[in-house]
Amino acid sequence: MNEKKLKIFVTRRWPAAAEEALCDHFDVTLNTNDAPLTKEELIEGFARHDIAAPTVSDNIDTDIIAAGAKGSCRLIANYGVGVNHIDLLAARTHSMLVSNTPGVLTDATADLTLTLMLMLCRRAGEGERELRAGKWSGWRPTHLVGRAMTGKRLGIIGMGRIGKAVARRAYFGFGMQICFYNRSPVGDVDDMKAEQMGSVAEVCANSDFVSLHCAASPDTFQILGAEALAALHESAYVINTARGDVVDEAALVAVLNAGTIGGAGLDVYKGEPEINPAILAASNTVLLPHLGSATVETRTAMGLKVVENARAFAAGQDLIDPVT
Ligand code: DGY
Repeated sequence: MNEKKLKIFVTRRWPAAAEEALCDHFDVTLNTNDAPLTKEELIEGFARHDIAAPTVSDNIDTDIIAAGAKGSCRLIANYGVGVNHIDLLAARTHSMLVSNTPGVLTDATADLTLTLMLMLCRRAGEGERELRAGKWSGWRPTHLVGRAMTGKRLGIIGMGRIGKAVARRAYFGFGMQICFYNRSPVGDVDDMKAEQMGSVAEVCANSDFVSLHCAASPDTFQILGAEALAALHESAYVINTARGDVVDEAALVAVLNAGTIGGAGLDVYKGEPEINPAILAASNTVLLPHLGSATVETRTAMGLKVVENARAFAAGQDLIDPVT
């Protein structure tokens, strides 16, 4: 297929270098004002293009996919690694291929996870809020005393690429002990002496920090639930940079408010960008607006991954990052 004749629909702005690379190869419709698109606009975009490049904040449901399939849309080249916003069953039913952008987000997301861990245990969010509010009265030995991260125990839920990258940073950088829960056995972790455990609750019972790194799917829905949260000790921290759906938010709010855990560092939320007011109201949280992959290097690399997948599709080759 002649790439230049293929029409691609991009739902949000990308970093300039990635948009340019896409435009070098394809006939591209950009969302120049970056406003979130309505369902009607998504339907129209899918219907009028050969390839759709949505992202994690677009809800790509069966109506949108059916509209694309009625036209000439044959590939959803997702800008992002998570695909829980796409109805994959509908895509399969309509013979529409799906690709994503794995690998290039690993380091950025792992770095942000460590950011949240440090902000929590060193009370950095509280400190900044106090200072900006003009309430800092000066240094004193008991002021905003947090807890050390070095040498503590980290439990990882989902030991894939990002989970391992977080574990490496924690083990080699902060001398932390690592345990994890993963559905299948995991290799490549012996150098960190990481211990695989049989359940999420067991990980919680043996950790000072618990960090979620599993993809959102029906299997992982609220994988960190009330029972596992009850196994955490009173100064343990929960970190979520995966998806809101993997944590039972109501149960998390309950343990935060009861003070039976130390706090939570969240980058993702159920139903984001709406945030459960009870999470906003809890004082022992650090809350970020889904920044895991937000570096110019990573966001550019994500766009270039979309370009690679679209080019493979145009050449009639297998997708580089197929989602099955
Ligand atoms: C993804 O790609 O799924 C991330 O959540 C975006 O940061």
